[in-house]
Amino acid sequence: MNQSNAPKACAGRVAAPIVGAASCDLQAAVALLRRGEILGIPTETVYGLGADATNGLACARIFEAKGRPSFNPLIAHCASLEMALGQGVFSKKAIGLAEAFWPGALTLVVRRHPASAVADLVTAGLDTIAIRVPDAPIMRALIEGLGAPIAAPSANRSGHVSATTALAVAEDLGGSLALIIDAGPSPVGVESTIVDMSGKTPVLLRPGGLARADIEAVLGEPLDSPTHPAGDRPSAPGMLAAHYAPSCPVRLEAAGARPGEGLIAFGPGAACGPGGSGGPGDAVRIVNLSPGGDLREAAANLFAALRSLDAAGVAGIAVMPIPATGLGEAINDRLRRAALGRLAETR
Ligand code: TXA
Ligand code: MG
Repeated sequence: MNQSNAPKACAGRVAAPIVGAASCDLQAAVALLRRGEILGIPTETVYGLGADATNGLACARIFEAKGRPSFNPLIAHCASLEMALGQGVFSKKAIGLAEAFWPGALTLVVRRHPASAVADLVTAGLDTIAIRVPDAPIMRALIEGLGAPIAAPSANRSGHVSATTALAVAEDLGGSLALIIDAGPSPVGVESTIVDMSGKTPVLLRPGGLARADIEAVLGEPLDSPTHPAGDRPSAPGMLAAHYAPSCPVRLEAAGARPGEGLIAFGPGAACGPGGSGGPGDAVRIVNLSPGGDLREAAANLFAALRSLDAAGVAGIAVMPIPATGLGEAINDRLRRAALGRLAETR
């Protein structure tokens, strides 16, 4: 059922072909991922909107397709615990949970491994990373074929419920995807349980397909509830208490840089100008998110830009206006949070 390679009309756009998992050409699907395409992929919890997690542009397309007005960090799906160990730093307890429940409906938040090649957009610039080894064979086969994690949020448009059938994926997102793989209704039907293992105590960030009691039985201790300390600990998914924020002030809608400031520019001709005038020429360092004015490229470069200016020790970061259309909404949301986070700290 639902096996067709012929694109269908969907909400006025050409919809992605839906192919059954059993007849899916794995090499071709991996080739699409390598090209930076995004696919609808079944997992045992819900369908995922998957991209090569090491490809920043492909990950930017995920946010574009979902119409998310902000950059929530994504789950990096791995084929095995071994692959996961290359992406995150696991405590003994975290390894215990992984061994007990992977592959399965458990996502672990751990410190990001310094050697992980996952794009900054996947972790939303945080130094933690959410990792899951899914049980769905087709998803694991794609990850193995790609040789890298697949970043995948639930395959629904922002604000809609998670898709548990290929048809629901097609209805919600079909026009943005290169391919939808159909493995029938998701057997678990709710998202994975998310446990933060990056701090002193394990914290249940999101209840999901794996019961709290089962996790606590393996841990031998209760799971904490998310708290909102002033620090940088992520709280409930989708509502991180603190996002990555540079340690210096961030000034938005800047016409140019003041002396000592680093400058984030966007678009052609935005990164040059005379010095001493409060224009681009005064910046001690300039990063142009996308000289060609491409918002997808700007999204992919955003966190690295903030981080590199921060690391360069600039007195502040001035950000030139970035259009609020398409992915620009999420880019501006994140920049506003970076600016506000710093203000809140200094008050
Ligand atoms: O079952 C699932 O988990 C599905 C399938 C596709 O794997 N995925 C899913 O992804 O539900 P998504 O993006 O809809 O939800 C993942 C949640 C987000 O709300 C995000 O905030 C949270 O995980 N998350 C990701 N990285 C995090 C981190 N480093 N710290 C805290 N929360 C994180
Ligand atoms: Mg979701």
